[in-house]
Amino acid sequence: MIENNALSKIAELQRKNTEALLGGGKDRIEAQHNKGKLTARERIDLLMDAGSFEEIGKFVMHRSKDFGLDKEYYLGDGVVTGYGTVSGRLVYVFSQDFTVFGGSLSETHAEKIIKIMDLAMKNGAPVIGLNDSGGARIQEGVVSLGGYADIFYRNTLASGVVPQISAVMGPCAGGAVYSPAITDFILMVENTSYMFVTGPNVVKTVTHENVTSEELGGASTHSTKSGVTHFSCANELECIQYIKKLLSYIPQNCEDTAPVLPYETVGDEMRAVLDTIIPENPNQPYEMREVIGGIIDEDSFFEVHKNFGENIVVGFARLAGRSIGIVGNQPAVLAGVLDINASTKAARFVRFCDCFNIPLLVLEDVPGFLPGTDQEWRGIISNGAKLLYAFCEATVPRITVITRKAYGGAYDVMNSKHIGADLNYAWPSAEIAVMGAQGAAEIIFKREIAQAEDPEAKLAEKIAEYQRKFATPYRAAHRGFIDEVITPAQTRVKLIKAFRMLENKVVNLPRKKHGNIPL
Ligand code: HXC
Repeated sequence: MIENNALSKIAELQRKNTEALLGGGKDRIEAQHNKGKLTARERIDLLMDAGSFEEIGKFVMHRSKDFGLDKEYYLGDGVVTGYGTVSGRLVYVFSQDFTVFGGSLSETHAEKIIKIMDLAMKNGAPVIGLNDSGGARIQEGVVSLGGYADIFYRNTLASGVVPQISAVMGPCAGGAVYSPAITDFILMVENTSYMFVTGPNVVKTVTHENVTSEELGGASTHSTKSGVTHFSCANELECIQYIKKLLSYIPQNCEDTAPVLPYETVGDEMRAVLDTIIPENPNQPYEMREVIGGIIDEDSFFEVHKNFGENIVVGFARLAGRSIGIVGNQPAVLAGVLDINASTKAARFVRFCDCFNIPLLVLEDVPGFLPGTDQEWRGIISNGAKLLYAFCEATVPRITVITRKAYGGAYDVMNSKHIGADLNYAWPSAEIAVMGAQGAAEIIFKREIAQAEDPEAKLAEKIAEYQRKFATPYRAAHRGFIDEVITPAQTRVKLIKAFRMLENKVVNLPRKKHGNIPL
């Protein structure tokens, strides 16, 4: 009899487990699949190492009684939470289940997310959020809003302590967008996900604009126009693969260092191909990604924010197996000028790398900041200052290679020695000056040129003189602002040695509560 009782209790547990696995039921799962979306559990299965996921809070139910909720309960309450491993490393994950009240966030749903965030903080491992939610559980009112705020608070406390990654794989509306926005990286899936503070209906009422969800806040919009998302993924599978790849470059927490891959030296590591990239004509563009590809371990570049602020290129790579963050001006877009988008994009990347002990390599070819009313009125001053501040404050190993232009304030900003870079190299093609030769000659020899018999010839003579003196790396090298002028082909070898030399770098910033970055 006792044995039968025990068996029936086990059967009850099994029944509950089966019920929980079904979320909002078979019909809603089918509807989810028909939209081209996976379920919360299918996404976790794809993300985690096989058999590693341990669920926490599977039987949690909401506590609401209003608007018929006293008759509608689902085990798990619309979010699957737990821990497991990705490529053998511990991660915490929450995956919202759209089949249960549209994945909306209730008090208990929030409590489940908070529980794993707290565990992640105590145990120093990344938090990955798979978001697919209609926002605050409307039937719960303020209790649900409180749940969101509890999450925002923890997102902020966790910022810079453990990496936080948000995949948006369905709707993400209202205040719900602010949790992903505080996290380190956002990935979106094209055509099935969107993020906005208010949806198209509200937009139409308030601003009379007709706009679709996709136009307003789809992956394409946020990866190109707003820069809210760092990665736009073709489908959910690609999104999960990107998360795994991203994790492979970053450490578990701020006390840790990124995984090192085994690396075997290939020959003398000289890369002759780099010697041929910079065009003869200094005004001709070239592709900075070719320079990056020539320096790093083969195929190791993982670009972040690829389609936003394209005049700067940022991303992770490996150098002799070690993770580095790269910031490179992109001469192929807007001549690599620094504007608002490029500055904020790079600043955020630099901050991430510095939070998580990822050394920084800066590849510099920058003609200056973008002039004009549009930029000035939208605040290029304070936005450019974000990048300046981010570099100044970064204590990770920092190396700059000036490939060509380093003009004006942009010379200072792009990880110059004066703001704490450890080693600065220049290629022989480097031009380091206050401005380009033509502009400089026109200003400082204005009177002399005007008074000359042949002003054009005088201008040409003065341009040539300025070029001879300043359109080279040597003035800066004489001063020690450049540590060594190297051939492009040597760059990889120099960087491998230099980053190794800097491996145990320690910098203590002045004691303070926190700085006041010009936000
Ligand atoms: C409760 C919700 C819900 C919500 C959807 N559902 N959103 N239940 N609270 N917020 C339920 C629906 O009733 C439905 O239940 C199921 O989820 C699927 O929803 P559908 O509308 O049928 O799906 P779809 O057509 O795909 O549309 C998805 C949607 C839409 C675009 C997300 O549901 C929607 O607009 N929802 C409301 C979004 C919203 O305004 N949320 C509040 C934002 S304000 P059944 O039983 O039929 O399956 C906010 C404040 C946070 O979040 C503030 C923090 C600072």
